Amino acid sequence: MHLGLSADELLTTTRSVRKRLDFDHPVERSVVLECIDIALQAPTGSNSQGWQWMVIGDTDKKKAVADAYARNFYKYTAQPARTYAEGDTRAERQPLVRSSADYLAEHFHRAPYLVIPLIEGRLDEGLNSFAQASQWGSILPAVWSFMLALRERGLGSAWTTLHLPDEQEVAELLGIPYERYTQAGLFPVAYTKGVDFKPAPRIPAAQLTHWDHFGQH
Ligand SMILES: Cc1cc2nc3c(=O)[nH]c(=O)nc-3n(C[C@H](O)[C@H](O)[C@H](O)COP(=O)(O)O)c2cc1C
Repeated sequence: MHLGLSADELLTTTRSVRKRLDFDHPVERSVVLECIDIALQAPTGSNSQGWQWMVIGDTDKKKAVADAYARNFYKYTAQPARTYAEGDTRAERQPLVRSSADYLAEHFHRAPYLVIPLIEGRLDEGLNSFAQASQWGSILPAVWSFMLALRERGLGSAWTTLHLPDEQEVAELLGIPYERYTQAGLFPVAYTKGVDFKPAPRIPAAQLTHWDHFGQH
């Protein structure tokens, strides 16, 4: 299935889907592969293409990875939440994001697949910003393309990183060579309940764009 969204619709309506993931609708392996093939068209530094894609469908393994996520999620959310000025749309959205994130933490293992994109090299060893930007920049555009490709096919995901404090444990569970590959995140993959997602409120570009001198809007 293709929704036939315009490029702008696709880019502005690919949301973090949590409560609207349809856990009971099986996902074909071929769709996952198709979306990864699309993701592989993303740019990489020096055309390095040092990526691998871990797709987890095994029930016990999904449960173990989801447990690692939930453990860290509850630690993270036990800390005081970030505060925003009154009227800031991020403050208004916070309870919605929180309730949606709580739901995902509880149900993560029910997604038909969990995806962990991998990038060659360890990125937690004191690299300078050039090396960091080059390596993260060689996986994150592909990950976003993957999410866009899912959306166009009636599926959804949510960008998550909270299993990463237990990255090594998850690497061992899945047989990922930890010394050679860094995990970029954890992505549930499922069909969505409905496909009518909308653009989210954001701070307008005019307030965040600086012309020739920082602070000059
Ligand atoms: C780097 C990164 C890490 C994130 N980590 C999590 C996470 O661990 N759990 C979660 O539920 N959402 C996570 N999110 C999703 C954000 O909460 C979400 O993108 C944000 O609330 C905006 O909502 P939208 O994606 O629907 O526009 C993450 C997003 C990014 C980009």
